[in-house]
Amino acid sequence: MVYVENSEQEVNMKILAIETSCDETAASIVEEDNFRPVVLSEAVASQMAIHAESGGVIPNVAARLHVENLPAVLKKATDSQRLDYDAVAVTVGPGLIGSLLVGVAAAKTIAMAKDLPFFAVNHMAGHVYSAWLAPSETGDSKLETGLPQLPALFVIVSGGHTELVLMERHYRFQLLGATRDDAAGEAFDKVARMLGLPYPGGPAISELARHGRSDAIDFPIGLNERDNLDFSFSGLKGAVFHEIQKHPAPLSEHLRADIAASFQDTVARTISRKTVAALQSNPEVRSVCLVGGVAANKHLRVELEKAVKNARGDVQFHLAPLQYCTDNAAMIGAAAIFKHLFSKPDDWSLVEANPNFEL
Ligand code: KG4
Ligand code: ZN
Repeated sequence: MVYVENSEQEVNMKILAIETSCDETAASIVEEDNFRPVVLSEAVASQMAIHAESGGVIPNVAARLHVENLPAVLKKATDSQRLDYDAVAVTVGPGLIGSLLVGVAAAKTIAMAKDLPFFAVNHMAGHVYSAWLAPSETGDSKLETGLPQLPALFVIVSGGHTELVLMERHYRFQLLGATRDDAAGEAFDKVARMLGLPYPGGPAISELARHGRSDAIDFPIGLNERDNLDFSFSGLKGAVFHEIQKHPAPLSEHLRADIAASFQDTVARTISRKTVAALQSNPEVRSVCLVGGVAANKHLRVELEKAVKNARGDVQFHLAPLQYCTDNAAMIGAAAIFKHLFSKPDDWSLVEANPNFEL
């Protein structure tokens, strides 16, 4: 809530959020409504097509494109319904430094010029709070599907990170496990390249996997000891490479599909096992939430839900809406709403973009 000057009236806080940590230039206005984030506007300029040509994100190209695209994206997010806002939020890290700097500079400038509260948001906190967003295309409210209940366990699987995070209270994050090498999304992107598929690899692998058998090849699960909540995907990536080397090129369509399906299933089983282990050692957990770019993977969505329900029938399972799995500004606005409610704003003059910012 914010108070309007010269008025007794309470109005809901509206936050303009900016996200430029990697290859999406995004802005959104998110409003707080009774402890729920409601998305009022969104605009995004995706660089995906340009990076697809080079097979991955080239950092200085990404930064330059953010500079070029951010003004129009901001105009679209704020102009479309003549929306005003009471605060500014921005992703300050983790991410690519050149990309982060563009969004942070713009957000600081707006906060300074308009004398608005400023919220520095961790990109991973944004992914966490994507679980509170309702999918816009269905017009559903999270009232119907239910909001995550705390303590909640977050399975964050993105291109840069794979983490298990426990949240007992809003805006307090406890890291239970993380990847020691590649992130799950990175493994999808690298295996896709080995199979001659385009960037980003996740959607391409899941499409190819539809034609293959997930039990065709027995790939290894990294760090598969009991009670180890860290992840490792480099062994799996190496095993896929060796499998490809065993056969004369070009691989048959049939074999490529079997490799894609078996790889995808191994990632899903790895994530499910670690999640169940985390649930077993944290019996107070009431909700499990799957978020991040790789959470868009249908096979993972289905398999993780099954594993969680089998392990603990009393736990709720939540998925970030598909449109808010990959990077977006609405999730940054959602995180900022909860920072406003349960923590405090930041002094923009003391905030710096931080590529290694930890939760
Ligand atoms: O969260 P995100 O948009 O960016 C980061 O914060 O890293 O995640 C991007 C990652 C990419 O590696 C992409 O291949 C992966 O998410 N991804 C998927 C799918 N859609 C995107 N991985 C598996 N299956 C998908 N359907
Ligand atoms: Zn992300």
